[in-house]
Amino acid sequence: MNEQPHFILDGQSFALPRIEGTEGEKAIDIQRLRFHSNYKVHDPGYANTSSCLSSLTFVDGERGILRHRGYAIEDLAAKASFLELAYALIYEDLPCQSALKAFEDSLWAESFLDPKLEALAAILPNQASALGMFYTLMGSLGAFYTDLLKLPDKNDADAIDRIGLSLLAKVASIAALVYRLKNNIHKPVCTEEPIYTKRLLCSLLNGKSPSAEALASMTRALDTFLLLHADHEQNCSTATVRMIASSGGSLLGAICGGISALSGPLHGGANTRVIHMLEAILASEDDGAHFIQNTKKGEAKLMGFGHRVYKNHDPRALLLKQLAKDLLFTLNIQDPLLAIAKNLETKVLKDPYFIERKLYPNLDFYSGILLRALNIPLDMFTILFVIGRTSGWIAHYKELVLAQNSPLYRPRQIYVGPPSRPFLSLNARQTH
Ligand code: CMC
Repeated sequence: MNEQPHFILDGQSFALPRIEGTEGEKAIDIQRLRFHSNYKVHDPGYANTSSCLSSLTFVDGERGILRHRGYAIEDLAAKASFLELAYALIYEDLPCQSALKAFEDSLWAESFLDPKLEALAAILPNQASALGMFYTLMGSLGAFYTDLLKLPDKNDADAIDRIGLSLLAKVASIAALVYRLKNNIHKPVCTEEPIYTKRLLCSLLNGKSPSAEALASMTRALDTFLLLHADHEQNCSTATVRMIASSGGSLLGAICGGISALSGPLHGGANTRVIHMLEAILASEDDGAHFIQNTKKGEAKLMGFGHRVYKNHDPRALLLKQLAKDLLFTLNIQDPLLAIAKNLETKVLKDPYFIERKLYPNLDFYSGILLRALNIPLDMFTILFVIGRTSGWIAHYKELVLAQNSPLYRPRQIYVGPPSRPFLSLNARQTH
C-alpha cells in the first residue's frame, strides 16, 4: 500500500515519493523527477497539480464535500459567523467567546480610514467603475499605512496577524467608501457600529433603515454570504496570493494580486455575469431554452455553472440557493430572476450536454440573487466576494510564510516557439 510509485522513462527505472493527505488524497512528489530523468510534467491550468501542503480547507469535488479546518461547510453556515470562520482560518481553530469578542473589537478599531485616503477617493474621476476605485484605494493603503507593506518574517507571526487584521477591517471600509462615492453619499455612515457584518451592511443601505427584524435577517444573510466565500483552497486568486507570497512579497501586495485574479469573469467576476445572463433571459421572454441551445453550440457560457473541482454539486451553491429563497420570503420580495434561475437549473440538470460534462450550479449562481434582495448594487457584487475571500487569503499567506520549506513558486513551460535562428539587422528584415 505504501510502496513508492516506480517509473520507467527512456529505459531508466526510478521511484518517487508518495504523499497522502489526512483525508486519503494521494499524490506523487515529482520534485526529483527532473533529477532522475530530465522530464518535466505538463499540466496546463494546474488541473492535476498539488502546489502545497495545506491544513485550511478540504474539498472533495467528486462527493461535493467542503470542510474548513475539519468543520463541514453546512455546519459552519448554519451555526457559525463569518468572523468565527475567518478566525479559524487565520488562527487554526474556532475562537472561544472572549477571543471572538477581542477579534471583533480589534477589527472595529482598525476599520477607520485615514481622512487623506478619503480625500484621495473623492478626487477619483466620476466615470471610474466601483471595481476600478476599489483597486486604486486598496493599492493606496500602503502609502497611508506603511506597515502594511512590511515584508514577511518567518519568525514574526504576530506581525502577519496584525497586518492581516488591519486588512480584513479595511477591505470592508474601502468597499463602504466606494459605495458612498458611487451613490453620492457625502459622510461616512455606520462607522460606530462595532459588529463587522452589520457595519458593512449598514454602510451599503443608502440611508434606508429597515425594521430591526428585517435588519437582523439581512445581516445574517450577508454574514453567511461572506462565510461561504471565505476560502476554497487553491483557487485562481488564492494561488495568486500564494505565488506573490512565495517571492517574499507583502501581504497587501499579495491581496491586491488576489483581487485582480478574483475579478475575472471565470472566477469571482462570474457573480455579476450571472445577473446579466438572467436579466437577458428575462428580457428575451424565452424560458432559457434558447440560451441553453446557444451554450451547447459554444456561442455562450452558462455563467454560474461548472467548476474545476466540483463534479457532483457545489455545497456552497445549495446553501446559497436556500439562503436566497429564505431571505426573499422573509423580506417579502418577489424577484423574477429567482424563478428564471431555478427553471434554468432544472433544465440544465436534465440535459445530456451538461450531465456528460458534470456541470452544476456553482457558488456564483444564486449569490447575486441574495445580494439583490439586500438591495446591493451589481457593481459591488465582486467586491463583496473579495471581502469574504480576504480572510482565506490572509490565512494562506500566513501558512506559506510560516511553513518550513516554502520555495519560490516558479512553474516551468514547454517552449514551442521557433528554434534557434540567425539575427537579422533592422534593414535586412522583410516588411510585413
Ligand atoms: N457553460 C457551458 N459549458 C461549459 C461551462 C459553462 N459554464 N463550463 C464548462 N463547460 C464545458 C466546456 O465548454 C467544456 O466542453 P467541451 O468538453 O465540449 O470542450 C467542458 O464543459 C469542460 O470545461 P472546462 O472549461 O475544461 O472546465 P474547467 O474545469 O476548466 O472550467 C470553469 C471551470 C469554472 C472555468 C467553467 O466551468 C466556467 O467557465 N464556468 C462559467 C464561469 C463561472 O461560473 N465561474 C465561477 C466559478 S466558481 C466560483 C469561483 O471560483 O469564483
